[in-house]
Amino acid sequence: DFEQAVENADEEWNLQLSKVEVMHRSDTLGVTIHDSDEDKMSEFHLVNHPLITHKLSIMRNRKTGSKDFRQLLNEIAMLMGYELTRDLPLEDVQIETPITKMTAKMVSGKKLAVVPILRAGLGMVDGLLSLVPVAKVGHIGMYRDPETHKPVEYYCKLPADVQERLVVLVDPMLATGGSAVDALTKLKEHGCRNIRFMCLVAAPEGVKAVQEAHPDIDIFCAALDDHLNENAYIVPGLGDAGDRIFGTL
Ligand code: PRP
Ligand code: URA
Repeated sequence: DFEQAVENADEEWNLQLSKVEVMHRSDTLGVTIHDSDEDKMSEFHLVNHPLITHKLSIMRNRKTGSKDFRQLLNEIAMLMGYELTRDLPLEDVQIETPITKMTAKMVSGKKLAVVPILRAGLGMVDGLLSLVPVAKVGHIGMYRDPETHKPVEYYCKLPADVQERLVVLVDPMLATGGSAVDALTKLKEHGCRNIRFMCLVAAPEGVKAVQEAHPDIDIFCAALDDHLNENAYIVPGLGDAGDRIFGTL
């Protein structure tokens, strides 16, 4: 019956998450949780390369100022982008080296769009563009209502051909998941079918919310933290990402 199905789904999800947590503590690069083919769930990719973890620890430190915080966020976005684009398909291209003709491999037609959730997502855009300079950039503006913690949308501008692109939605913080869930819904309303979500720090509650609302979306994340506090901030987290990036504390 329905209640039993919900309970089973919850158990399955908790199993997934405990697997994630175990791997979170390992030093494995780019851990991926694979799901069974029949029951397609989103994959949670914990991108915990030592350089990423090290840079993130500096960002978490309350003494780190905006200039360093911004720079580190872009560096991590670039390193994570490397992992996120790992499976881009290649195609054969005929070229000539100074020595001879050859069939070389190049990234095939798949075009990218980077879509930050404003404001904090902006801090990850340049890092990704340094990897893929021809990517187009859309923007989704959202802020969390301080009382309800629910996202309020105030802006949306996407590339005209966004539905033909691989869309990388970026936001450093996945807390309750409300912002990411709504932004993903928005992208789908615009016809996007090939979307990945990239964040820096996630709370288990946010991962669960995104996976339940958008089981087709893969999540790339540098750290899975412990829980949310009473103000829906991630613990231990790094505080308010937007304020730390833009110095509006
Ligand atoms: C932060 C963050 C996310 C959102 C995450 O934005 O950048 O967008 O909160 O929280 P959620 O998962 O509970 O929705 P904020 O509302 O502080 O806006 P800002 O980026 O403009 O500071
Ligand atoms: N938004 C942030 O910037 N930080 C959090 O911890 C939660 C939401």
